[in-house]
Amino acid sequence: MTRPMEPADAAGTAEVPKPPTGVGDGRELLQWLRTMRDRHPVWRDGTTGAAHVFRYDDLLQVLSSPDVFSSDFSGIMPPPDPDAPNFTEGVLTMTDPPRHGKLRRLVSQAFTPRMVAQLEPKVAALTRELFDTVAGAGDFDLVTSVAYPLPVIVIAEMLGIPPADRELFRGWGEALLSTNYELPVGAVPDGTMPEHIVGQLKDMHAYLLGHVQDRRISPRDDLISRLVTAEVDGDALTDGETVSFLNFLLLAGHLTTSLLMGNTLLSFAEEPEQGKAVRADRELVPAALEEVLRHRPPVVFQARVTSRETELAGVTLPARTPVMCWQMSGNRDERHFPDPDRFDITRRPNQHLTFGHGIHFCIGTPLARMESRIVLNELLDRYRSVDVGTPVYYERSPEIFGVKSLPITVQPA
Ligand code: HEM
Repeated sequence: MTRPMEPADAAGTAEVPKPPTGVGDGRELLQWLRTMRDRHPVWRDGTTGAAHVFRYDDLLQVLSSPDVFSSDFSGIMPPPDPDAPNFTEGVLTMTDPPRHGKLRRLVSQAFTPRMVAQLEPKVAALTRELFDTVAGAGDFDLVTSVAYPLPVIVIAEMLGIPPADRELFRGWGEALLSTNYELPVGAVPDGTMPEHIVGQLKDMHAYLLGHVQDRRISPRDDLISRLVTAEVDGDALTDGETVSFLNFLLLAGHLTTSLLMGNTLLSFAEEPEQGKAVRADRELVPAALEEVLRHRPPVVFQARVTSRETELAGVTLPARTPVMCWQMSGNRDERHFPDPDRFDITRRPNQHLTFGHGIHFCIGTPLARMESRIVLNELLDRYRSVDVGTPVYYERSPEIFGVKSLPITVQPA
Protein backbone atom coordinates (compact mmCIF):
# COMPACT_ATOMS: atom_id res chain seq x y z
CA MET A 1 0.00 0.00 0.00
CA THR A 2 1.31 3.45 -0.76
CA ARG A 3 0.45 6.76 0.87
CA PRO A 4 -0.60 9.81 -1.14
CA MET A 5 2.53 11.46 -2.48
CA GLU A 6 3.72 14.66 -0.92
CA PRO A 7 4.44 17.15 -3.68
CA ALA A 8 7.92 17.61 -2.29
CA ASP A 9 8.74 13.92 -2.64
CA ALA A 10 7.17 13.56 -6.04
CA ALA A 11 9.25 16.33 -7.54
CA GLY A 12 12.25 15.75 -5.32
CA THR A 13 12.92 19.44 -5.50
CA ALA A 14 11.22 20.96 -2.44
CA GLU A 15 13.25 22.68 0.25
CA VAL A 16 14.88 19.97 2.27
CA PRO A 17 16.82 21.05 5.34
CA LYS A 18 20.48 20.14 5.00
CA PRO A 19 21.43 16.98 6.88
CA PRO A 20 23.93 17.51 9.70
CA THR A 21 27.41 16.26 8.75
CA GLY A 22 28.04 14.16 11.86
CA VAL A 23 26.02 12.65 14.69
CA GLY A 24 27.77 14.17 17.72
CA ASP A 25 25.43 14.23 20.71
CA GLY A 26 22.54 13.46 18.34
CA ARG A 27 20.47 16.57 19.03
CA GLU A 28 20.80 18.21 15.63
CA LEU A 29 20.45 14.91 13.79
CA LEU A 30 17.31 13.93 15.73
CA GLN A 31 15.76 17.28 14.90
CA TRP A 32 16.52 16.76 11.21
CA LEU A 33 15.16 13.20 11.30
CA ARG A 34 11.91 14.40 12.86
CA THR A 35 11.46 17.03 10.15
CA MET A 36 12.20 14.46 7.45
CA ARG A 37 9.74 11.93 8.95
CA ASP A 38 7.03 14.58 8.86
CA ARG A 39 7.75 16.27 5.56
CA HIS A 40 9.84 13.96 3.36
CA PRO A 41 9.39 10.40 4.67
CA VAL A 42 11.14 9.02 1.60
CA TRP A 43 13.62 11.55 0.23
CA ARG A 44 15.86 11.31 -2.80
CA ASP A 45 19.03 13.29 -2.31
CA GLY A 46 19.86 15.06 -5.57
CA THR A 47 23.55 15.30 -4.64
CA THR A 48 24.31 11.61 -4.02
CA GLY A 49 21.34 10.02 -5.82
CA ALA A 50 20.57 7.97 -2.69
CA ALA A 51 17.10 7.59 -1.21
CA HIS A 52 16.57 8.05 2.53
CA VAL A 53 13.82 6.31 4.48
CA PHE A 54 12.68 7.70 7.83
CA ARG A 55 9.39 6.17 9.03
CA TYR A 56 9.12 2.93 11.00
CA ASP A 57 6.61 1.20 8.68
CA ASP A 58 8.57 2.11 5.55
CA LEU A 59 11.76 0.82 7.16
CA LEU A 60 10.03 -2.48 7.95
CA GLN A 61 8.93 -2.73 4.32
CA VAL A 62 12.46 -2.14 3.00
CA LEU A 63 14.14 -4.50 5.47
CA SER A 64 11.53 -7.22 4.84
CA SER A 65 11.96 -7.18 1.05
CA PRO A 66 15.48 -8.35 0.22
CA ASP A 67 14.37 -9.23 -3.34
CA VAL A 68 13.82 -5.52 -4.09
CA PHE A 69 16.06 -3.90 -1.49
CA SER A 70 19.26 -5.83 -1.90
CA SER A 71 22.32 -5.99 0.36
CA ASP A 72 24.62 -6.76 -2.57
CA PHE A 73 26.36 -3.51 -3.52
CA SER A 74 28.83 -5.07 -5.95
CA GLY A 75 26.87 -3.67 -8.92
CA ILE A 76 27.34 -0.05 -7.85
CA MET A 77 30.62 -0.16 -5.93
CA PRO A 78 33.96 0.40 -7.63
CA PRO A 79 36.08 -2.78 -7.92
CA PRO A 80 37.83 -3.53 -4.63
CA ASP A 81 41.38 -2.21 -4.10
CA PRO A 82 43.53 -4.96 -5.73
CA ASP A 83 46.33 -4.31 -3.21
CA ALA A 84 44.08 -4.75 -0.17
CA PRO A 85 43.12 -8.19 1.14
CA ASN A 86 39.63 -9.28 0.15
CA PHE A 87 37.43 -9.40 3.21
CA THR A 88 34.15 -9.35 1.30
CA GLU A 89 33.82 -13.02 0.32
CA GLY A 90 30.59 -14.31 1.76
CA VAL A 91 30.04 -11.43 4.17
CA LEU A 92 26.48 -11.94 5.39
CA THR A 93 25.46 -8.29 5.37
CA MET A 94 26.51 -7.95 1.72
CA THR A 95 24.78 -11.11 0.50
CA ASP A 96 21.24 -11.78 -0.76
CA PRO A 97 19.11 -14.93 -0.78
CA PRO A 98 19.50 -17.74 -1.57
CA ARG A 99 23.23 -17.53 -0.80
CA HIS A 100 22.65 -15.48 2.34
CA GLY A 101 20.40 -18.18 3.84
CA LYS A 102 22.97 -20.88 3.25
CA LEU A 103 25.83 -18.82 4.69
CA ARG A 104 23.73 -17.79 7.67
CA ARG A 105 22.78 -21.41 8.41
CA LEU A 106 26.46 -22.38 8.26
CA VAL A 107 27.53 -19.58 10.56
CA SER A 108 24.56 -20.16 12.91
CA GLN A 109 25.76 -23.73 13.51
CA ALA A 110 28.91 -22.27 15.01
CA PHE A 111 27.53 -19.09 16.60
CA THR A 112 24.78 -20.65 18.72
CA PRO A 113 22.90 -19.13 21.69
CA ARG A 114 24.33 -22.04 23.75
CA MET A 115 27.87 -21.06 22.83
CA VAL A 116 27.13 -17.47 23.87
CA ALA A 117 25.59 -18.64 27.16
CA GLN A 118 28.64 -20.80 27.88
CA LEU A 119 30.81 -17.75 27.42
CA GLU A 120 29.05 -15.86 30.20
CA PRO A 121 31.33 -16.81 33.16
CA LYS A 122 34.36 -15.88 31.05
CA VAL A 123 32.84 -12.51 30.11
CA ALA A 124 32.10 -11.86 33.78
CA ALA A 125 35.71 -12.69 34.73
CA LEU A 126 37.12 -10.47 31.95
CA THR A 127 34.84 -7.63 33.05
CA ARG A 128 36.07 -7.94 36.65
CA GLU A 129 39.69 -7.96 35.43
CA LEU A 130 39.13 -4.71 33.52
CA PHE A 131 37.40 -3.02 36.46
CA ASP A 132 40.26 -4.23 38.70
CA THR A 133 42.71 -2.16 36.62
CA VAL A 134 40.97 0.99 37.94
CA ALA A 135 40.18 -0.32 41.44
CA GLY A 136 40.72 2.40 44.03
CA ALA A 137 40.46 5.23 41.49
CA GLY A 138 37.85 7.88 42.31
CA ASP A 139 37.48 8.73 38.65
CA PHE A 140 38.31 7.00 35.41
CA ASP A 141 37.19 6.75 31.81
CA LEU A 142 34.58 4.00 31.44
CA VAL A 143 35.13 3.70 27.70
CA THR A 144 38.91 3.40 27.61
CA SER A 145 39.05 1.20 30.75
CA VAL A 146 36.17 -1.20 30.14
CA ALA A 147 33.66 -0.53 27.36
CA TYR A 148 36.16 -0.27 24.50
CA PRO A 149 38.52 -3.17 25.33
CA LEU A 150 35.94 -5.69 26.57
CA PRO A 151 34.07 -6.58 23.34
CA VAL A 152 37.26 -7.12 21.34
CA ILE A 153 38.77 -9.32 24.07
CA VAL A 154 35.52 -11.30 24.17
CA ILE A 155 35.60 -11.83 20.39
CA ALA A 156 39.24 -12.96 20.57
CA GLU A 157 38.30 -15.34 23.41
CA MET A 158 35.35 -16.71 21.44
CA LEU A 159 37.52 -17.34 18.39
CA GLY A 160 40.18 -19.09 20.43
CA ILE A 161 42.89 -16.47 19.84
CA PRO A 162 45.70 -16.76 22.45
CA PRO A 163 45.45 -14.02 25.13
CA ALA A 164 48.96 -12.84 24.21
CA ASP A 165 47.65 -11.83 20.76
CA ARG A 166 44.78 -9.72 22.06
CA GLU A 167 46.72 -6.49 21.58
CA LEU A 168 47.25 -7.35 17.90
CA PHE A 169 43.53 -7.82 17.63
CA ARG A 170 42.84 -4.47 19.23
CA GLY A 171 45.16 -2.78 16.74
CA TRP A 172 43.35 -4.40 13.82
CA GLY A 173 40.01 -3.40 15.28
CA GLU A 174 41.21 0.23 15.17
CA ALA A 175 42.44 -0.14 11.57
CA LEU A 176 39.07 -1.52 10.44
CA LEU A 177 37.20 1.30 12.10
CA SER A 178 39.40 3.93 10.51
CA THR A 179 38.43 2.70 7.02
CA ASN A 180 35.19 4.55 7.65
CA TYR A 181 35.68 7.71 5.63
CA GLU A 182 34.05 11.09 5.93
CA LEU A 183 31.57 11.01 3.06
CA PRO A 184 28.05 12.37 2.80
CA VAL A 185 25.56 9.67 3.84
CA GLY A 186 24.57 7.69 0.73
CA ALA A 187 27.68 8.58 -1.31
CA VAL A 188 29.48 5.55 -2.79
CA PRO A 189 33.11 5.32 -1.57
CA ASP A 190 35.84 5.15 -4.24
CA GLY A 191 37.28 1.90 -2.84
CA THR A 192 40.84 3.11 -2.16
CA MET A 193 42.46 2.75 1.24
CA PRO A 194 45.45 4.43 2.87
CA GLU A 195 48.62 2.31 2.61
CA HIS A 196 49.20 1.87 6.34
CA ILE A 197 45.69 0.47 6.78
CA VAL A 198 46.14 -1.92 3.84
CA GLY A 199 49.31 -3.16 5.57
CA GLN A 200 47.45 -3.80 8.82
CA LEU A 201 44.61 -5.56 7.03
CA LYS A 202 47.08 -7.81 5.20
CA ASP A 203 48.66 -8.78 8.52
CA MET A 204 45.25 -9.50 9.94
CA HIS A 205 44.22 -11.58 6.93
CA ALA A 206 47.40 -13.69 7.11
CA TYR A 207 47.02 -14.14 10.87
CA LEU A 208 43.38 -15.27 10.67
CA LEU A 209 44.09 -17.53 7.69
CA GLY A 210 46.84 -19.20 9.75
CA HIS A 211 44.33 -19.94 12.53
CA VAL A 212 41.73 -21.23 10.06
CA GLN A 213 44.21 -23.59 8.41
CA ASP A 214 45.46 -24.74 11.79
CA ARG A 215 41.89 -25.59 12.96
CA ARG A 216 41.24 -27.61 9.81
CA ILE A 217 44.13 -29.85 10.81
CA SER A 218 43.52 -29.87 14.56
CA PRO A 219 40.05 -28.64 15.58
CA ARG A 220 39.53 -27.39 19.14
CA ASP A 221 36.61 -26.20 21.21
CA ASP A 222 36.36 -22.72 19.71
CA LEU A 223 34.38 -20.73 17.17
CA ILE A 224 36.97 -21.00 14.38
CA SER A 225 36.93 -24.81 14.65
CA ARG A 226 33.14 -24.87 14.60
CA LEU A 227 33.08 -22.60 11.55
CA VAL A 228 35.51 -24.75 9.55
CA THR A 229 33.63 -27.96 10.38
CA ALA A 230 30.06 -26.60 9.86
CA GLU A 231 28.15 -28.06 6.88
CA VAL A 232 24.83 -27.29 5.17
CA ASP A 233 23.62 -29.54 2.32
CA GLY A 234 27.12 -30.96 2.01
CA ASP A 235 28.70 -27.49 1.64
CA ALA A 236 31.17 -25.90 4.04
CA LEU A 237 32.72 -22.42 4.28
CA THR A 238 35.89 -21.88 2.23
CA ASP A 239 39.00 -20.50 3.94
CA GLY A 240 38.32 -17.10 2.35
CA GLU A 241 34.71 -17.04 3.58
CA THR A 242 35.77 -18.05 7.08
CA VAL A 243 38.43 -15.33 7.26
CA SER A 244 35.93 -12.75 5.97
CA PHE A 245 33.40 -13.78 8.58
CA LEU A 246 35.95 -13.53 11.39
CA ASN A 247 36.97 -10.11 10.19
CA PHE A 248 33.33 -9.07 10.02
CA LEU A 249 32.70 -10.26 13.58
CA LEU A 250 35.43 -7.99 14.79
CA LEU A 251 33.99 -5.06 12.90
CA ALA A 252 30.32 -5.74 13.74
CA GLY A 253 30.74 -6.75 17.36
CA HIS A 254 33.32 -4.35 18.70
CA LEU A 255 32.42 -0.68 18.58
CA THR A 256 28.65 -1.32 18.52
CA THR A 257 28.72 -3.11 21.87
CA SER A 258 31.16 -0.66 23.36
CA LEU A 259 28.92 2.27 22.39
CA LEU A 260 25.91 0.59 24.01
CA MET A 261 27.72 0.58 27.36
CA GLY A 262 28.59 4.29 27.16
CA ASN A 263 25.10 5.16 25.92
CA THR A 264 23.59 3.38 28.93
CA LEU A 265 25.38 5.64 31.40
CA LEU A 266 24.47 8.73 29.38
CA SER A 267 20.81 7.73 29.51
CA PHE A 268 20.91 7.20 33.28
CA ALA A 269 22.69 10.51 33.74
CA GLU A 270 19.88 12.21 31.86
CA GLU A 271 17.14 10.31 33.73
CA PRO A 272 18.61 9.72 37.22
CA GLU A 273 15.32 8.43 38.68
CA GLN A 274 15.28 5.59 36.16
CA GLY A 275 18.95 4.86 36.89
CA LYS A 276 18.05 4.61 40.59
CA ALA A 277 15.14 2.27 39.83
CA VAL A 278 17.51 -0.07 37.96
CA ARG A 279 20.03 0.02 40.80
CA ALA A 280 17.26 -0.92 43.26
CA ASP A 281 15.86 -3.73 41.11
CA ARG A 282 18.32 -5.49 38.85
CA GLU A 283 15.50 -7.39 37.18
CA LEU A 284 14.98 -4.13 35.29
CA VAL A 285 18.43 -4.25 33.67
CA PRO A 286 17.43 -6.09 30.43
CA ALA A 287 14.43 -3.81 29.73
CA ALA A 288 16.52 -0.73 30.53
CA LEU A 289 19.17 -1.85 28.01
CA GLU A 290 16.50 -2.36 25.33
CA GLU A 291 15.30 1.18 25.91
CA VAL A 292 18.87 2.48 25.63
CA LEU A 293 19.16 0.57 22.34
CA ARG A 294 15.99 2.23 21.05
CA HIS A 295 16.69 5.71 22.36
CA ARG A 296 20.43 5.88 21.64
CA PRO A 297 21.13 3.27 18.95
CA PRO A 298 24.86 2.67 18.38
CA VAL A 299 24.20 2.21 14.64
CA VAL A 300 22.32 5.08 13.05
CA PHE A 301 21.39 3.64 9.66
CA GLN A 302 21.98 0.67 7.39
CA ALA A 303 22.10 0.58 3.60
CA ARG A 304 20.37 -1.31 0.80
CA VAL A 305 20.31 -0.90 -2.98
CA THR A 306 17.27 -1.36 -5.24
CA SER A 307 17.57 -4.40 -7.51
CA ARG A 308 14.85 -3.01 -9.82
CA GLU A 309 12.63 0.04 -10.16
CA THR A 310 10.21 0.17 -7.29
CA GLU A 311 7.89 2.49 -5.40
CA LEU A 312 8.11 3.30 -1.73
CA ALA A 313 5.54 5.49 0.01
CA GLY A 314 4.57 6.93 -3.36
CA VAL A 315 8.12 7.73 -4.44
CA THR A 316 9.58 6.00 -7.47
CA LEU A 317 13.06 4.62 -6.97
CA PRO A 318 14.97 3.56 -10.09
CA ALA A 319 17.02 0.35 -10.12
CA ARG A 320 20.47 0.64 -8.49
CA THR A 321 19.42 3.40 -6.07
CA PRO A 322 21.29 3.26 -2.74
CA VAL A 323 18.71 3.33 0.07
CA MET A 324 19.64 4.61 3.52
CA CYS A 325 17.46 3.07 6.22
CA TRP A 326 17.54 5.39 9.23
CA GLN A 327 16.81 3.04 12.10
CA MET A 328 17.55 5.87 14.52
CA SER A 329 14.58 7.70 12.96
CA GLY A 330 12.34 4.60 13.00
CA ASN A 331 13.08 4.21 16.71
CA ARG A 332 11.80 7.75 17.32
CA ASP A 333 8.81 7.55 15.00
CA GLU A 334 5.84 8.97 16.89
CA ARG A 335 3.56 6.95 14.57
CA HIS A 336 4.91 3.81 16.22
CA PHE A 337 6.26 4.69 19.69
CA PRO A 338 4.19 6.88 22.04
CA ASP A 339 6.22 9.84 23.35
CA PRO A 340 9.30 8.54 21.48
CA ASP A 341 11.80 11.11 22.73
CA ARG A 342 11.22 10.07 26.31
CA PHE A 343 13.68 7.51 27.70
CA ASP A 344 11.37 5.09 29.49
CA ILE A 345 12.63 1.78 30.85
CA THR A 346 9.04 0.57 31.34
CA ARG A 347 8.23 0.90 27.63
CA ARG A 348 6.35 -2.18 26.39
CA PRO A 349 6.35 -3.30 23.67
CA ASN A 350 9.71 -1.99 22.54
CA GLN A 351 10.31 -3.33 19.06
CA HIS A 352 13.16 -1.05 18.10
CA LEU A 353 15.09 -1.47 14.87
CA THR A 354 18.56 -1.20 16.37
CA PHE A 355 19.52 -4.80 15.61
CA GLY A 356 17.96 -4.56 12.14
CA HIS A 357 14.96 -6.53 10.94
CA GLY A 358 14.29 -9.47 8.64
CA ILE A 359 16.80 -11.95 7.29
CA HIS A 360 19.85 -9.89 8.31
CA PHE A 361 18.72 -9.43 11.94
CA CYS A 362 21.89 -9.21 14.03
CA ILE A 363 23.38 -12.58 14.95
CA GLY A 364 25.35 -11.02 17.81
CA THR A 365 22.27 -9.76 19.69
CA PRO A 366 22.51 -12.29 22.59
CA LEU A 367 26.22 -11.53 22.99
CA ALA A 368 25.79 -7.74 22.94
CA ARG A 369 22.93 -7.99 25.47
CA MET A 370 24.91 -10.31 27.73
CA GLU A 371 28.08 -8.19 27.72
CA SER A 372 26.29 -4.95 28.46
CA ARG A 373 24.18 -6.56 31.20
CA ILE A 374 27.32 -7.90 32.90
CA VAL A 375 29.14 -4.56 32.68
CA LEU A 376 26.18 -2.62 34.05
CA ASN A 377 25.66 -5.04 36.95
CA GLU A 378 29.37 -5.02 37.80
CA LEU A 379 29.42 -1.23 37.80
CA LEU A 380 26.37 -1.05 40.07
CA ASP A 381 27.83 -3.73 42.38
CA ARG A 382 31.16 -1.97 42.75
CA TYR A 383 30.02 1.62 43.15
CA ARG A 384 27.24 3.17 45.16
CA SER A 385 27.34 6.28 43.02
CA VAL A 386 28.47 6.94 39.45
CA ASP A 387 28.57 10.52 38.19
CA VAL A 388 29.10 11.17 34.52
CA GLY A 389 31.52 13.92 33.44
CA THR A 390 31.70 15.54 30.02
CA PRO A 391 31.34 12.92 27.27
CA VAL A 392 33.42 13.11 24.09
CA TYR A 393 31.40 11.96 21.11
CA TYR A 394 32.59 10.18 17.98
CA GLU A 395 32.47 12.92 15.40
CA ARG A 396 33.98 11.35 12.32
CA SER A 397 31.50 8.70 11.34
CA PRO A 398 27.96 9.56 10.30
CA GLU A 399 26.96 5.97 11.06
CA ILE A 400 27.57 5.64 14.77
CA PHE A 401 26.07 7.30 17.82
CA GLY A 402 27.97 7.29 21.07
CA VAL A 403 31.03 8.34 23.00
CA LYS A 404 34.70 7.58 22.60
CA SER A 405 35.44 8.88 26.07
CA LEU A 406 33.24 8.98 29.16
CA PRO A 407 34.85 10.27 32.36
CA ILE A 408 33.05 9.05 35.47
CA THR A 409 33.46 9.81 39.17
CA VAL A 410 32.65 6.90 41.44
CA GLN A 411 32.18 6.09 45.11
CA PRO A 412 32.82 2.49 46.18
CA ALA A 413 29.82 0.51 47.43
C1 HEM B 1 24.83 -3.25 20.35
C2 HEM B 1 25.54 -4.01 19.54
C3 HEM B 1 25.16 -4.33 18.10
C4 HEM B 1 24.36 -3.65 17.23
C5 HEM B 1 23.61 -2.34 17.46
C6 HEM B 1 24.32 -4.41 16.00
C7 HEM B 1 23.59 -4.04 14.87
C8 HEM B 1 23.43 -4.86 13.76
C9 HEM B 1 22.55 -4.56 12.64
C10 HEM B 1 21.70 -3.30 12.50
C11 HEM B 1 22.63 -5.58 11.77
C12 HEM B 1 21.85 -5.73 10.45
C13 HEM B 1 22.62 -5.18 9.28
C14 HEM B 1 21.81 -5.18 8.02
O1 HEM B 1 20.60 -5.50 8.03
O2 HEM B 1 22.38 -4.82 6.98
C15 HEM B 1 23.60 -6.54 12.30
C16 HEM B 1 23.97 -7.69 11.68
C17 HEM B 1 24.96 -8.52 12.16
N1 HEM B 1 25.60 -8.42 13.37
FE1 HEM B 1 25.29 -7.05 14.79
N2 HEM B 1 25.11 -5.50 16.14
C18 HEM B 1 25.64 -5.51 17.42
C19 HEM B 1 26.48 -6.46 17.97
C20 HEM B 1 26.98 -7.55 17.30
C21 HEM B 1 27.90 -8.52 17.86
C22 HEM B 1 28.43 -8.49 19.30
C23 HEM B 1 28.18 -9.41 16.87
C24 HEM B 1 29.09 -10.59 16.90
C25 HEM B 1 30.20 -10.68 17.59
C26 HEM B 1 27.40 -9.03 15.69
C27 HEM B 1 27.38 -9.71 14.50
C28 HEM B 1 26.52 -9.45 13.46
C29 HEM B 1 26.45 -10.27 12.25
C30 HEM B 1 27.29 -11.50 11.93
C31 HEM B 1 25.46 -9.68 11.43
C32 HEM B 1 25.07 -10.10 10.02
C33 HEM B 1 23.75 -10.86 9.99
C34 HEM B 1 23.26 -11.10 8.58
O3 HEM B 1 23.54 -10.31 7.66
O4 HEM B 1 22.56 -12.11 8.38
N3 HEM B 1 26.69 -7.89 16.00
N4 HEM B 1 24.05 -6.06 13.52
